[in-house]
Amino acid sequence: MTERPEQPDWLKEIEAFFEWYTDLFGNQFYLQEEVEEPAVPSATHAAPTPAKPKTPRVRKEHPLTPLQKFFQEIKDCQKCALGKTRTKFVFGVGNEHADIMFVGEAPGRDEDLQGEPFVGRAGQLLTRMLEHIHLKREDVYIANILKCRPPNNRDPLPEEVRECIPYLHRQIEMIQPKVLVALGRVAAQNLLNTKQSLSQLRGKVMEYRGIPMIITYHPAAVLRNMNLLDVALEDFRFIARFVKEVVDKPKNS
Ligand code: URA
Repeated sequence: MTERPEQPDWLKEIEAFFEWYTDLFGNQFYLQEEVEEPAVPSATHAAPTPAKPKTPRVRKEHPLTPLQKFFQEIKDCQKCALGKTRTKFVFGVGNEHADIMFVGEAPGRDEDLQGEPFVGRAGQLLTRMLEHIHLKREDVYIANILKCRPPNNRDPLPEEVRECIPYLHRQIEMIQPKVLVALGRVAAQNLLNTKQSLSQLRGKVMEYRGIPMIITYHPAAVLRNMNLLDVALEDFRFIARFVKEVVDKPKNS
């Protein structure tokens, strides 16, 4: 097998830029608009014209969306001790107008490094489960109870949740999803403010501040016990049917 040659630095820099950009603005790229230069006259014998001053580039301002503004406001948060140990603040990713919003527990190692939720092994499984119901990551919104990684992926501490969860409440308020999906016990218990177990909560439609909420297994739990995969996929098919019902339902019915 031939070894892949080491990437040149300029390519690494471009990749890092796009990673940073998509973290911040999603997959939409805003291009700078240029004023069109007048056509150069084609006459070959025309007297040389003095050099024209360059037409200034017009930069079209794209105001930040409310969520992007919110990210800017909170990205340097130091309200709990995790602010000191994180690599990146993991705000959330996806469609700001999504019908479905998924909530996990907290960033793991890969998420902490990349600044995006669910990009490690559990995230790859989540992506596959979304594909199973014909959705892409860009169709939904994905966030976590905590924005920063707890050391060694331990469970979030109550004081960390207390400081951080208001950010998530605000994101949900802005996105206004039709359906919320809690991935695992920690997400479900903290959003519903309950101590009920996952098995008590799974398989029903609960309610979070007027929004229907479905609770399913955390993809990391499925990776630890692949016997759960079938049931988890059944949950996803249920989510797809439920969302279709809610979205298709005429108002006032
Ligand atoms: N587990 C989570 O709960 N969230 C992530 O973002 C990654 C793994």
